[in-house]
Amino acid sequence: MPPLWPWTTSTPPPARQRQDFIIGTPDNKTETGREAALLVAVDQSDSSWEIEDSLEELARLVESVDAEVVGSLTQRLDHPMAGTYLGKGKIQELKELIELHEATMVVVNDELTPAQLRNLESALDVKVLDRTAIILDVFAGRAQTHEGRLQVELAQLEYRLPRLTRMWTHLSRQAVGGVGVRGPGETQLESDRREAQKRITFIKTQLSQVHRHRQIYRDRRSRQGIPVAALVGYTNAGKSTLLNALSGSEVYAQDQLFATLDPTTRRIALPDGSPVLVTDTVGFINKLPTMVIAAFRATLEEINEATVLVHVLDASHPNVGEQYRTVNQVLAELGADDKQAIVALNKIDRCGVGNVPPLEDIVRDIGLESPYVSISALRHEGFDTLGLAIQQAIELERDLQEMTVLIPYERGDLVDRFHSLARVASQSHDEHGTTLTGLVPVAAAPLFAEFRPAESVKSGSR
Ligand code: GTP
Repeated sequence: MPPLWPWTTSTPPPARQRQDFIIGTPDNKTETGREAALLVAVDQSDSSWEIEDSLEELARLVESVDAEVVGSLTQRLDHPMAGTYLGKGKIQELKELIELHEATMVVVNDELTPAQLRNLESALDVKVLDRTAIILDVFAGRAQTHEGRLQVELAQLEYRLPRLTRMWTHLSRQAVGGVGVRGPGETQLESDRREAQKRITFIKTQLSQVHRHRQIYRDRRSRQGIPVAALVGYTNAGKSTLLNALSGSEVYAQDQLFATLDPTTRRIALPDGSPVLVTDTVGFINKLPTMVIAAFRATLEEINEATVLVHVLDASHPNVGEQYRTVNQVLAELGADDKQAIVALNKIDRCGVGNVPPLEDIVRDIGLESPYVSISALRHEGFDTLGLAIQQAIELERDLQEMTVLIPYERGDLVDRFHSLARVASQSHDEHGTTLTGLVPVAAAPLFAEFRPAESVKSGSR
């Protein structure tokens, strides 16, 4: 019997990424020569995504790792079952579906705990992959640079490490060995774990060197005082196409999820002739695995250090509203939700055509919280307005100053005022009143001058 886990489904990752514990080749394939996958999802009432849409996205991810989706099964639950993800009856139903479709793998729409993964595999007797494993697999196939590949490998190793148990069963059964130098009585599992740990430490060291270089570059950039606009957005929204179009460069743009994993920066001129550095970042996705965010944190730093964010949205996508909220959530996780953001509603050439509603209806339905401009990156439309919006945002940013104030409780009106004028980074309360820190327009600063606490004045905070 082939190993059940771990499993890679996409094109093999680069040589060093093929750990000894990534083993096995796909077995039963469909007529198209691809593996047959069944999708499984728990439909939680509190999810902001419709289950059909979420499954459709999962299907697209699964197809991009070259498997064929042969069916799906959902179960309505408040939460996935702690031990087995699905309930007993559903597991039985799933077994019948596997047989019916001759499926060779089951792909679960959430991240499974190691126990859920183990239990599902032993109940179903086919390999089980979760959404995280698929996303990591897509990433592994897409990473272009040394840094990108290291980051993906780190995320993969950290994901796999707690899930190595199952593979040990396989290894011990088939007596596949050869990983590391083993002493008497040591298990394959222990040595696999040690091997993985060693590799994690090695990658972290390598990455910290790469990041030091990146920081030096960023510092140099900020000394030059050139503002940075970071393009952020859901995967496939059109960020790379926009960067290409704005800069006339050839950044990899493809109609596939996560075409770009590595940040690319280009210098362009704003309408007033001043320069801005525009940087493309990795696309976001619903349920973006936390280890991906962690592994890509340094790359995503580009976002935190940007002067302004351009949130590129595919206005023609049926889930544009969900995508908008998902990106905002990830930005909040990265601590970048207090940045100025301009929404660039992209692909307007598709709006009002075929099944896609007119742009006005789309704008109304999304419930945008930031100013927006409508563009078509493909047709180079709306660029003047976008350029002006970026220029204004940068000017505004220049006119802001950081300020910490301590406002006594009897001046609640000023707390409201601070909130309405400033971009608030933090707020806390003690017996003296409300302490607020944020970026305040220079012109409004005198309003709060008398409420600056003594230390912040002394320590030089403006
Ligand atoms: P990730 O790398 O996954 O984050 O994607 P991305 O946001 O960089 O998207 P990318 O630029 O690769 O574009 C995705 C697809 O959308 C490509 O097929 C583009 O040609 C297409 N696209 C981008 N902008 C437009 C547009 O304005 N109109 C139309 N019709 N298609 C567009």
